[in-house]
Amino acid sequence: MTLTIVGSQLGDEGKGALVDRWGGDADVVVRYQGGDNAGHTVVEGGAEYKLSLVPSGAVRGTVGILGNGCVVNPKTLFAEIDNLREQGLDPDVRVARRAHVIMPYHRVLDGIEEEVKADDDAGDAVGTTGRGIGPTYEDKAGRRGIRVADLLDPETLREKLEYAVPQKRALVEDVYGLDLDSEAQRASGSRTQSGDDDSDDDRAAAFDVDALHEEFAAIGERLADEGMTVNCSDYLHRRHEAGDEILFEGAQGTHIDVDHGNYPFVTSSNPTAGGAAVGSGLGVTTVGDGEVVGIVKAYLSRVGEGPLPTELDGDADEEALADEIREKGGEFGTVTGRPRRIGWLDLPMLRHAARVSGFTGVAVNHVDVLAGLDELKVCTGYELDGETLDTVPTTTDRWERCEPVYETLDTWAPFDSSAVAEAGYDALPEAARDYLEFVADEIDTPVYAVGVGPDREETVELTNPFDE
Ligand code: GDP
Ligand code: IMO
Ligand code: MG
Repeated sequence: MTLTIVGSQLGDEGKGALVDRWGGDADVVVRYQGGDNAGHTVVEGGAEYKLSLVPSGAVRGTVGILGNGCVVNPKTLFAEIDNLREQGLDPDVRVARRAHVIMPYHRVLDGIEEEVKADDDAGDAVGTTGRGIGPTYEDKAGRRGIRVADLLDPETLREKLEYAVPQKRALVEDVYGLDLDSEAQRASGSRTQSGDDDSDDDRAAAFDVDALHEEFAAIGERLADEGMTVNCSDYLHRRHEAGDEILFEGAQGTHIDVDHGNYPFVTSSNPTAGGAAVGSGLGVTTVGDGEVVGIVKAYLSRVGEGPLPTELDGDADEEALADEIREKGGEFGTVTGRPRRIGWLDLPMLRHAARVSGFTGVAVNHVDVLAGLDELKVCTGYELDGETLDTVPTTTDRWERCEPVYETLDTWAPFDSSAVAEAGYDALPEAARDYLEFVADEIDTPVYAVGVGPDREETVELTNPFDE
């Protein structure tokens, strides 16, 4: 069977923790979209692993696949594999030959576009991770992308570079008006919102066909030598036919999905469950026949720009509460280190997520972080232009104007997470159980697991989806 793990909110819901938790029963873990914009954390016995591209099954030694729907920066992939080896893991990662490659010019363009938008009153800077995700998906849709298979064939690679690179150079120089060869531009233009400074990168080389060809043909050789590339659809189909359990690891979250999120403050892929079929080449009936579990953070966090109706930023008290939750929950970006914005749980967002992906269950994380608060609110709907809405409006402008309707629920005192995880659901404080049952009722989806801490063992499991 298959299990698809999907972020229900805005990313960073704790997907990595559940992929690791249930990954023990999986034979293959597949990423189906996104790239190294993801930052998934797995904590096992106190040891913490941060994964960006390597699927989170690596901590248990499960083979990981980067599906055709992913955008892959081979350099950061190799660096991550090397880092994980230093931490004592031995990641076995295969990359779909149909996956698109993030080229150095994509990263540079990501940075430039964000700067231009930030300087333009009308332009909405997204606050991207600066990893080149959007520009790479643009080239995929524009049929000028470079795929992993192209790296394996130096002649094809040269042809593709000779077509694409002059266009990119013209875009930078003629549209954005930058002089790629000047030192000054080199230093300033490569900075991204994340605070990353790529000024060490030779920006001129990012637009130099010969330099790119040499570097990426060598990467292709390494991928081939290490037997790292696969026909993803064929591979997964065979594994599935053989009775293997396949776990799809969604990255990002429903509300930053390019179709179903709050456009334009989104990433450029489909984290929602439909993406698992398209992004891997396993049929929709196979994916749909399995379990689809939405990962929910018990409050909201958002890294990057865009509306957040329940954001705790209205006055000094709210800001103090946001600080308290941010500190307790360690809410700082895994990839960029940015402090995450904090808000109350938003049920209209969850209703939308459950519907778009067809959740069979949810896992609610960070229930420990809410313990000990003086007040606890949940948004049950919105008021907009005299109407009450129970789901998220389609335009960002309307969503931004929504006034949350809150229900206040009882709070619970701090508890011993390990003891509760061991004893099971009934050991949770009563008010925490009421909270979970309230959410499950409102979105008409059962709770499969409750996160009470970051460690693999700090999860209260009600249902293991692989047993369903
Ligand atoms: P992902 O991107 O969805 O995999 O989530 P991240 O790893 O970016 O962020 C989630 C953070 O919360 C990580 O630091 C996790 O270790 C941590 N975490 C996951 N589940 C829980 C939980 O139930 N309680 C607490 N306190 N932390 C958790
Ligand atoms: P995981 O998998 C949270 C956000 C960025 C930005 C927007 C677009 O760890 O949950 P991009 O670089 O993708 O073009 O940025 O999406 N974003 C994430 N936010 N978690 C993530 O991944 C994210 N990946 C991208 O902050 O607002
Ligand atoms: Mg993350």
